[in-house]
Amino acid sequence: MTDDVLKAKQRFSIIGNSPALLAAIERAVKVAPIDLSVLVTGESGSGKEFFPKIIHAFGARKHKKYIAVNCGAIPEGTIDSELFGHEKGSFTGAINTRKGYFEEADGGTIFLDEVAELPLTTQARLLRVLETGEFLKVGSSQVQKTDIRIVAATNVDLLKAVAKGKFREDLYYRLSTVVINVPNLHDRGEDIPLLARKFSADFSEKYLTAPITFSEEAKRAMMLYRWPGNVRQLKNIVEQLALFNAGEEISRRQLIELLPLDRSGSSSLVAATRDGSYESEREMLWQLVYQLRHELSDLRSRIDGITPEKEQPYGSHASTQSLIKYEVSPTDNDKCDSAVEEVVAVPTLEDSERNAVAAALRRNGGNKKKAAEQLNISPRTLYRKIHELGLQLDEGTEPEQAEL
Ligand SMILES: Nc1ncnc2c1ncn2[C@@H]1O[C@H](COP(=O)(O)OP(=O)(O)OP(=O)(O)O)[C@@H](O)[C@H]1O
Ligand SMILES: [Mg+2]
Repeated sequence: MTDDVLKAKQRFSIIGNSPALLAAIERAVKVAPIDLSVLVTGESGSGKEFFPKIIHAFGARKHKKYIAVNCGAIPEGTIDSELFGHEKGSFTGAINTRKGYFEEADGGTIFLDEVAELPLTTQARLLRVLETGEFLKVGSSQVQKTDIRIVAATNVDLLKAVAKGKFREDLYYRLSTVVINVPNLHDRGEDIPLLARKFSADFSEKYLTAPITFSEEAKRAMMLYRWPGNVRQLKNIVEQLALFNAGEEISRRQLIELLPLDRSGSSSLVAATRDGSYESEREMLWQLVYQLRHELSDLRSRIDGITPEKEQPYGSHASTQSLIKYEVSPTDNDKCDSAVEEVVAVPTLEDSERNAVAAALRRNGGNKKKAAEQLNISPRTLYRKIHELGLQLDEGTEPEQAEL
């Protein structure tokens, strides 16, 4: 590990010594002084947000501004104005002339997070500013100049987005002069229990509780699990354990209970059995019971997300009636027992939406893209819903504007 890699790790509290993680940090440190665009790739929750910060802090622009923009969280109608500014009167509500991030951060670095979410029209503006340093405020014909370094990040396969016509090929090549791939947590071996220990210490400090520890079997299980939500998912799970099991040594069972099933329906437990560590039949049965419990709660949260107007007529869900509490609508036929209606609390549409969004995020370990896919909405709509419904997101996932 070079001195600079160590410094970067210390400065940003990055935990881990796996070769793939260290190689990614080293790449960031090496490219920092060279003024090139960098594309950071990696699954959701893998820790991409450290990398633009390292690049800014270890480069010549470190005393200038650093602005992080979450492209997926800004409504399509305002993103051009956010990035490039607007002229007074250029659209309804444009009361004053406003500077965009590209003007504000002149001389510094802009981090374009979730860059695949940029609308095609904004991609064209971005390409121009990257190639010539020139841009126009929305509603203005006066060309302005700026000197910005771009670091972009994405958890989607941009080449696939190019193939689908959703991302400009020329912009892809312009952005990806240097690519830094952040490894999946699953591939980081011993880093996993190391991170769990660090998060345990952090949360015990935050909640003023005794830290949790992990049994050897729990550590083995966490090294076998797939971690679809990567470090963010591990952090969330350690937080729950730190809150509700303070001071305990966490067993494999306690850990596994909190791991969701993956989308194929196969359990994380299946992966954990491959090393032959669960020999006894009893153990396997126990796992099946847990698997069923997970499936049931998954089913429940899916049902919670179904809005009444999308429902089939009452009575067509004979096998799930006991689970579906609020599908009874006033238009339903006489089978609706008014006594039942009285005792069953009918949640509002907003409650149903909140449940569905929260359940989808939970099921996908906080992975917003996968959650949006499951909910059959765009990531942008998901962000809007998260805001509207007052759901809490992991820090760093909000649009932010910060200076290092
Ligand atoms: N190596 C690490 N050491 C300590 N904390 C980490 C590490 N990697 C990630 N984290 C933490 O995990 C969380 C998720 O990381 P981050 O927000 O960077 O993910 P991401 O790759 O940007 O995900 P997304 O694509 O969903 O935006 C953050 O709280 C971050 O601080
Ligand atoms: Mg991110």
